[in-house]
Amino acid sequence: MGTIIAVANQKGGVGKTTTTANLGASLALRGKRVLLVDMDPQGNLTAAFGHTPQPGQTVAEALLDRRVPLPIVPVMEPSGATLSLVPATVALASAESTLMNKLGRELRLRDQLGSVMDSFDVVLIDTPPSLGLLTINALVAAQKVIIPTEARFFSLQGLQMLQESIEETLYLNPKLEVLGIVLSKYDRRLKEERTVSNYLREHWGGLVFSTEIASNSKILEAASVGVSIFSHSGAERAVGAYRDLAEEVAARV
Ligand SMILES: Nc1ncnc2c1ncn2[C@@H]1O[C@H](COP(=O)(O)OP(=O)(O)O)[C@@H](O)[C@H]1O
Ligand SMILES: [Mg+2]
Repeated sequence: MGTIIAVANQKGGVGKTTTTANLGASLALRGKRVLLVDMDPQGNLTAAFGHTPQPGQTVAEALLDRRVPLPIVPVMEPSGATLSLVPATVALASAESTLMNKLGRELRLRDQLGSVMDSFDVVLIDTPPSLGLLTINALVAAQKVIIPTEARFFSLQGLQMLQESIEETLYLNPKLEVLGIVLSKYDRRLKEERTVSNYLREHWGGLVFSTEIASNSKILEAASVGVSIFSHSGAERAVGAYRDLAEEVAARV
């Protein structure tokens, strides 16, 4: 039975999608059978692998109707990484509002993943920048949460809110645990970032991954051409960082 990990932080632009995509590719290159689930109506994870979903072939339909199986598409990267992806489009936004009035609305992703888990070692769920029903579905489905964060003072308050949401989710998913916090866009040249990084390590201790993902334009570039950093030339430093992160994650699950 594989491990389901939600990648969450209600703040936008902190590196959730980037972490999901590159950690996923890195785990796949380590030989894990990886499924990535896009739970953000912005569909950035789907685009990060250059995928354009067929109409009706997204996570939204499977959330709305349990008889519809999760659409799982293969991703074969130039790097040699082979993964599976459940794509999303903007239709997921209206699916979320429809879901509000449905029974078992928080459990739908969990139940859908239950029927495919035999085929995967790791499932990473990318979530939208909110603590709404889509993120709750991810937190209910998951055993673990990875929290990507920037090392900024404003991020600290957000971490507190996320922790409260995770505690709230324990009503439906008592085993949910934070697997780790990752500094996903770290710029050690900035004093504020060094200060916040130190504070995080003091406050959250070993929960903060030792690996820091440095701010690096190659990471942004790779996403914009629809590949992971492992398939993008010139991204060697980022490759090293995501390898280290995958090693830490593999050791913790
Ligand atoms: N380490 C990094 N260095 C530089 N840019 C990054 C890094 N991580 C993410 N980005 C870029 O920052 C932006 C926001 O990241 P993203 O993963 O989309 O955040 P989120 O999913 O939390 O909204 C994207 O344009 C992404 O390519
Ligand atoms: Mg995102």
